[in-house]
Amino acid sequence: MKFIIANWKAYVTTEKGAKALAAAVQKVKFRKGIAVVLCPPFPFFSLARAHKGRGVSWGAQDMFWKEGGAYTGEVTSEMLSGAGITYVIIGHSERRNYAQETDEMVNAKVRAALAAGLRPIVCVGEREREDPASIPRCVAEQTHKAFAGIEKNKMEEVIIAYEPIWAIGTGTADTSDDALSAALYIRKVIGEMYDAKTAAKIKVLYGGSVDSRNIAEFINQEGIDGVLVGRASIEKKEFAEIMRAI
Ligand code: PGA
Repeated sequence: MKFIIANWKAYVTTEKGAKALAAAVQKVKFRKGIAVVLCPPFPFFSLARAHKGRGVSWGAQDMFWKEGGAYTGEVTSEMLSGAGITYVIIGHSERRNYAQETDEMVNAKVRAALAAGLRPIVCVGEREREDPASIPRCVAEQTHKAFAGIEKNKMEEVIIAYEPIWAIGTGTADTSDDALSAALYIRKVIGEMYDAKTAAKIKVLYGGSVDSRNIAEFINQEGIDGVLVGRASIEKKEFAEIMRAI
């Protein structure tokens, strides 16, 4: 199974726009064995119910780690599940940057998502790659901290997105070879934390300036289980081409 995950970020700002985008995606015929997951902003979650059972799945771009209570502005796992959401992006670099999310918060969110039966898509990635020959240690550190204390039997639900920050929204994607090295490195870290079987089971995606021209390079790598697409996922024709590219 390969994943194409669309992170609409805050690019889509009107209900009309969100509806039109969902309807356009729904029309695209894509191969079996591919999971397409659309992650709209919270106010457009009703789309998940409206499109239920029609091929695509739905995800959130974030969630809170507490089940509920006096937490102004937060969106909980139950709110997501109740809206028909089954995936949730956690620890995206934009949240780490603009909302000061820490590795500890990421860990708490991963726990809460798994406890609620949601599939977390956990983002890790370095700000800069100083030495092109090696994937920075911070990727290992973020991975370690994100999954600290998570039980082994929960790990098969986990999706990790390797998203080098320098490649996000810049039009300069990583090379597929380096993305593969990073994916293997992440699997190695999971293997050290758990065991080889667990490392083989988790899904590792690549994200950062994926578009219809470069998607095949990433998705055809056996060690890369799919892509997380930002900017190109909100352009109807472009995303249709991405979905048909595999
Ligand atoms: P991008 O974003 O495709 O616009 O680079 C990817 C992401 O941030 O998930």
